[in-house]
Amino acid sequence: MNKEKVVKIAILGMGTVGGGTYKILKDNRNIIENRICKKIDVVKALNRSPRPEYAEDFITDNIDDILDNEEIDIVVECLGGIEPATTYMIKALERGKHVVTANKAAVAANYKKLMETSDKHGVKLLFEAAVAGGIPVLTAINNPLQANNFIEIMGILNGTTNYILTKMQEGQSYEEALKDAQKKGFAEADPTADVEGIDAVNKLSILITLMFDKYVAPEEIERVGISKVTIEDILDAKSASETIKLIGRATLRDGKLSYSVKPERISLSHPLSGVDNEFNAVYLRGDMVGELMFYGKGAGALPTGSAIVGDIISIAKTL
Ligand code: HSE
Repeated sequence: MNKEKVVKIAILGMGTVGGGTYKILKDNRNIIENRICKKIDVVKALNRSPRPEYAEDFITDNIDDILDNEEIDIVVECLGGIEPATTYMIKALERGKHVVTANKAAVAANYKKLMETSDKHGVKLLFEAAVAGGIPVLTAINNPLQANNFIEIMGILNGTTNYILTKMQEGQSYEEALKDAQKKGFAEADPTADVEGIDAVNKLSILITLMFDKYVAPEEIERVGISKVTIEDILDAKSASETIKLIGRATLRDGKLSYSVKPERISLSHPLSGVDNEFNAVYLRGDMVGELMFYGKGAGALPTGSAIVGDIISIAKTL
């Protein structure tokens, strides 16, 4: 191991995702350091409120303590929400720091600005965790699948709504299932973003941008949430051997790209129909590879943290 180099990391936000990332960096430290052949050190974390469980000088509520620290190599943004997260990421990139984020809202809203800034300053901005949590679908699209013209994508991109729809099918009420999802750490701070499809639209915007080389803003995507899905709708679908899922879809037909996020009735014979609880799945078709499906946990501290730490490792290997 190169004992000389210590990769210094700062985490913005020590909530569910930031906490999960910190835990992985601590619990799997040995394997991570062996893989990158360097030491890692999480030197600072930004948190609005004090966190007595961490060393006193580790937590700060002042972003400049991180941005002004020239030793920090990688800033991991886990604040969520468009602002101040975007401003902090831009400033970190401008100061030559690599950025890893799970923030689908900020990446979808400011994709061009963030990418231009990272290019201009010669640093990386990675966001595998922003779409479908622990599933490495963006890396797959950006690397081994690059040879394809993509034809279609259908995704179950939100763990909270998939959890609610699954539990409703098992007889639980919408409200009970939502409360459960919040307790388990799947839901956004304001669960309206989950149930009204806003979170899924952000993720679909990122997928479309990478797959079809065309930026489609979240607000351009047709969006219907699950708040109006009733037990009767679910039973009606069941009697026709179908299930209701919140599907993010983009299809290229005759040169025209169409896209939506809405509840759809899916035949029980479709591979997406068996994707339950907080699991996410991305089904896609490329002209060369044919059909593919990715499946895994799309929300929660450790699955999301796993994708974040994967991005940290990719960057750390290059330092
Ligand atoms: N609220 C999101 C979900 C978290 O339920 O999928 C992961 O992006």
